[in-house]
Formats: sequence, structure tokens, C-alpha cells
Amino acid sequence: MSSERIEALITKMTIEEKLGQMTQLSPFFWGVEDGVDITGPLEALSIDNSVVSRLGSTLNYFGADKLKKLQDDYLEKSRLKIPMLFMADVIYGYKTVFPIPLALSCSFNPQNYHDATQIVAKESAASGIHLTFAPMSDLVRDPRWGRVMESPGEDPYLNAMMTEAAVRGFQGDSLNDKGTIAACVKHFAGYGASQGGRDYNWVELSKHSLWQYYLPSYKAAVDAGVKMVMTAFNVIDGIPTSANKSLFRDILRDKWGFKGVTISDYGAIDETVINGLVKDGYGAAKACIEAGIDIEMMSTHYVQYGKKLVEEGRLSIDLINQATRNILMLKEELGLFDNPYRYADAKEEQKLHKCKEHLKRAREIARESIVLLKNNQILPLEENGSIGMAGPFVAVDSTMGGWVLGDDKNSFTLEEAIREKGFDVITSVTKGLGAMQDGCFDIEDWVEEEIKKLEHCDVIIVGVGENAQDTGEGASKTNIRLSYNQEKLIYRLKQLNKPLIAIIFSGRPLEIKPIVPVCDAIIEAWFLGTESSGALADVITGVYNPSGRLAMSFPQTVGQIPVHYNCYNTGRPYSGKDERYISRYLDCSNEPLYPFGYGLSYGETEYTEFKVETVKNKMIASVIVINKSNVEIKETVQLYIRDVYATVVRPIKELKGFRQIVLKGYEKQRVEFEITKEMLKFYRYDYEYVFEEGEFDIMIGKNSADTQMVRKYIS
Ligand code: GLC
Repeated sequence: MSSERIEALITKMTIEEKLGQMTQLSPFFWGVEDGVDITGPLEALSIDNSVVSRLGSTLNYFGADKLKKLQDDYLEKSRLKIPMLFMADVIYGYKTVFPIPLALSCSFNPQNYHDATQIVAKESAASGIHLTFAPMSDLVRDPRWGRVMESPGEDPYLNAMMTEAAVRGFQGDSLNDKGTIAACVKHFAGYGASQGGRDYNWVELSKHSLWQYYLPSYKAAVDAGVKMVMTAFNVIDGIPTSANKSLFRDILRDKWGFKGVTISDYGAIDETVINGLVKDGYGAAKACIEAGIDIEMMSTHYVQYGKKLVEEGRLSIDLINQATRNILMLKEELGLFDNPYRYADAKEEQKLHKCKEHLKRAREIARESIVLLKNNQILPLEENGSIGMAGPFVAVDSTMGGWVLGDDKNSFTLEEAIREKGFDVITSVTKGLGAMQDGCFDIEDWVEEEIKKLEHCDVIIVGVGENAQDTGEGASKTNIRLSYNQEKLIYRLKQLNKPLIAIIFSGRPLEIKPIVPVCDAIIEAWFLGTESSGALADVITGVYNPSGRLAMSFPQTVGQIPVHYNCYNTGRPYSGKDERYISRYLDCSNEPLYPFGYGLSYGETEYTEFKVETVKNKMIASVIVINKSNVEIKETVQLYIRDVYATVVRPIKELKGFRQIVLKGYEKQRVEFEITKEMLKFYRYDYEYVFEEGEFDIMIGKNSADTQMVRKYIS
């Protein structure tokens, strides 16, 4: 609902001022030298300073004092004193950096995503940020795409839960609460399905898949009250999302009732020309304003052609007024008209940035994001003994992932963290590994000399993986194996005949099948942020019993992609028999290397007495989980369903619930899930979200491939 102040402003504003509010450029255009531009091509944009003085927002410029000055300078020249909006990509960290979102999702603990984003909001709000371009909620099934690191993973239910938690973490209960920032869900819609995993590519999505798998997480953000929605770079159904009325008006505004602001991705409105949807900027401005995109980021077609379009009767001024209204309403909700600095405060910056409390929480969350993939009973490390450490990642001091614009240093290296635990550590082959920007680290032939240092160690830890710069935006790969030299190092280390622990640092599931037989234990460390090393040391030494579960499948080989758990049965399902005319590959089984929901701990659990029964008119699925070991375990009990037949084909299983329980040594607990019709709904052929009676497989298990099942008729 607009306010008198806003309506009065709109009445007074010239069309140039309205179009200025609808445009966002980098801070360079205000003459600042130290802005951050890492998110796209910065082309010369043909505008003059008079236009710059009217622009409504900027992005990725930080610092309480700097932003206060920028706001002061801007307001001094502003005719109507409409404050600027300061936005930024503080996605999973600013000064205290948390695990990448894909890793956060592996904790299967939405509270972690909430707490991480709440701290990110506090730290960046103190530095003058009003809104973050997060959470990214694109469903992903293709690890060739570098941006899987930013996503909550391959499952719609988990994505939706993590997205909601992130929105609530950033925005709090009210934006009037200190240390909150507005959130912007992205990228609407379907960007994670980029053809061939190649960034900025088009997507081939059926309307059914879009609704059933890709839209739910964005809707969760809208339902959680997200203030902004960002377009995506991809074309869908032949229309770039930034010009896609069906997405932004029919679905987002009309069906979901979104009342906030929409923004294009970086230059995406100009890219409607490059994509070939429109002839020129004039056409781009018309198409995208009509599609409902309120703010044009990093291109200037709105300010160049908006007035001409209206004067020539090609565009309704009402659309410009509504976009301006949406933007001004957000500024008013953020309190900027009353306090244009909002929560910017240099003293708060000093107090909050990487404070002990934040670092402590970051380490706790990082520990829960680590996934133990293999363990031949050599972890956790024995109390004493000498540890040999090799490989590039045992010595690097930054494992942040590709989207950190604030601080990019870990508290300490992995080598330091293990030594701090009291172990005698000998390192080898950690330096001189080729430049970071040469892609995966490379090693040269002097390795032989180096490796001799480790001959008398009790255990070897090798830290390998991909460069942080090789993940994130613009970082698609056709080869997702470890580098040849890293695999060579692992095979060579194994010749020392010591227990070998591989720690994988990556922003995506890598193709690690070649090293699995060689390693006695494998830990997926993702990029865990500031407290990465301490968290890993806690897991390796048993201070924390690993509890992470994969939010995205690991393929056996890149040739399998897309491989994900919630697939369809096909008419010729592969049953393991050696038959020809069935849905299979001749050279690889259909299963992933590690499935969605998978992860080990240092203990062992048993699921017994699984049953589905009606209790007081409610259908209850229950199981008893027994801890068969003497160590405390955090177990993620997972509920899956299958709708055996329906008026559209349904996947062989879908996650519909999970419960994290803590079991002390030899303890057992009953875990119950209510089976509701709501969780059994799906998008029918007419895209109505419906329940259809019939037979359902109810499954409970420790991961998507290890479940017990009961079939029930539900009407
Ligand atoms: C980038 C990304 C988007 C980011 C935006 C602003 O190109 O696609 O996720 O928020 O530009 O930096």
C-alpha cells in the first residue's frame, strides 16, 4: 500500500527522475575509485553526469563512512531528496564468511542458513548496505555449472526451506530492527538449468518441470516476504527472463501476489538485444518495462529511451509510475526517507566485523556443512602421532568460494589448525604449486624429493580440489575431475603405504571416482569460509562428529549429468540386470557416485520398526533410529514419498521431510512424520497444485538411496 508521501513524490517527479530511480549503476559512475566490479562486463555506458545525479541505487560499494558521504553528496544534488539504495552481493559472508550456500544446505539445518545470513546482515548493515542480492535459490542438477556453489542444491523441498531461512535471516521480523537488510531472491527463473552447464546459456525446461522443480524455492522466498526478485540471464520459452511477462507479471505478481521490487541482473536488459529478442535499446526498454522489471542494473536503456517511448505512445506512463512506486515504497520501508544512512555506523563496524561471537558461530556452522564421504575407520585421528600433510589446500589461507566481496582470508590454514590440535605435522608439496589463476593447482617434478619427508608419518592428509576462482559465476567446466597433477600426487602418496585422507575443496560435486579406491577416507570440505580450517580440524580430530548430508548428487562421471535422485522411472527402468533395451548406459551404471542426502558419521545407526499407521485420524510414518556406536551422532532422518501413478508421471521419490536428531552412544529414538495430503500435492497437467488419491510409497531412510518403504492407498 503506497503512502501519501510517495504519491506526492510521484506527482512531482519528472519522467527523467522516475527513470533514474529505475536505473542502477556501479559506484564508479559517482567517481569513487575503490568500488568492486567483479560481477560482469563494465562497458562504457553513454550517459552524462546529469543522469548519474538522478540514479536511484548503486551496488557493491562498502563502508559506513564512504556510503554516508556518497549519500550526502547525492542528496545535496537531489531535487526531491530521494535517498539512494545501497545494494550488494553479501550472499554468504561479508567480513565473517560462512560456507558457500551449497555447503550450508548440506547441514540439512535451516537454522544454520538463518543464523549465517543474520550475521551477514548485521555486519553489512553496519557498513551501510541496505539490501543483498541473495538468497540465490536456483535449483541445480549440473555440476558443470559453476554457480551450483551458490545454490541450496537439487531438491525443491530443501531449497525452499533453506531459502525461507535465508530470507528471514537477512530481513529479520521487521526491517525496522537494527542490523537487518532487505533480501533479493535470484535468479528468476530456471537459471540453474543452463544448457550443458554453460553459464548464460538458454534453458530447455518443460512448463511442468519449471513448476514442479524450479519455481518452488522462489515462491518460498515470496511467501517469506522477500523484498526484491532478480531476473536471470537465461532465455526460457524463447524469451529472456528480463522481458518475460509470463514470469514477472502472470506468475510473480498476479499468481503469487508479490508486491516488492524487481531488478534485472547485471546488464541483462541490454542482453535482450544481444539475445535477439529486440532490435535495440529502445525495444529493450519497452519489452522489459512491460514485462515488469522495475530496475535496470548496469545498462541504461530506461533512461535513454523511456521518455521517448512514452512520448511516442509506445509505453504507458502508468508502468513507469508503478515501477517508481515499487522502488520508493521499498526505500520508505527501509526508513531511508527518515534516515538515509539507515544502520551505517563505523563504531558498529569495528565491533561486529569478525567478532568472536560471529567467528564462533561460523565455525559451528562450517562443521555441520562438512560431508564425510568415505572412512575406512581411520578417522577421527588418534590422539597423537605424526601427520603428513600434502597438497595445495593444506597451506592456502583462503577457502571462501567465488562470491566474497568483503574479507577473503581464513582465520588460519589447515596445517596450522591441525598443529594447533597438538599433532606433530610435517608438510610437503604445498608450495610452489603454480599460480592460483592457472586453474587447478599444478605440481612439478621435484615432488619426489618432497614426498620423502612424509615417509615416517603415521597418517597422510592430502588437501586437493579446485580454485575458488574456478567456481561461481562464469566458471563452467566440461571436466570436473581433480587436475591430473593432483590425482598423480594422490596415487604417489598412497605408495607410502600409510592411511591416506583426502580433503576435497570445491564449489561443486567433482568427479572424484578415480581417487576413491586409493583413499582410506574422503571429506568434502566445499569452501567453508573464515573458519574452514578450525571446523575441518574439529571433524578430523573427532571434536565434532560429521553430520553433513549431500544436497547435490556426486556423479560417477561427467557423462552421466544430469544425475539426481528425484528422477522418473522411465518405461524401461534399469533393474541391474544385463539387458540391452532398457534405460541405461553401456559403460556406467545409472546411480550417482554419492546420492542426495548421503553422508557418513563416526558412528553407525540402524533404522528399525518402520511403519505407517493411522493414529487419531492422522497418517503417521515412524521409525526407531538406534545409535549402534558409543559416540554421539547427529542423524538426519529423511522422509521420501512416491506417488506411484497420477495424471502426470511422478518421480521415483521426493524428499518431503527431514528431522535432525542427536543420539548419545547406544541411544535410540522414535522419529515420526505426519503424512499429509499437502505434501502429496503436485502440479497437474493444467498446473493446478492438487492431491490425487491413489497408492503412495512412503519411505524413511538415512539418504535417498538407503530407505525402507511401505505402500499405502491414500484417498
Ligand atoms: C551478477 C550475478 C548476480 C549478482 C549481480 C550483481 O552478474 O549474476 O547474481 O547479484 O550480477 O553483482
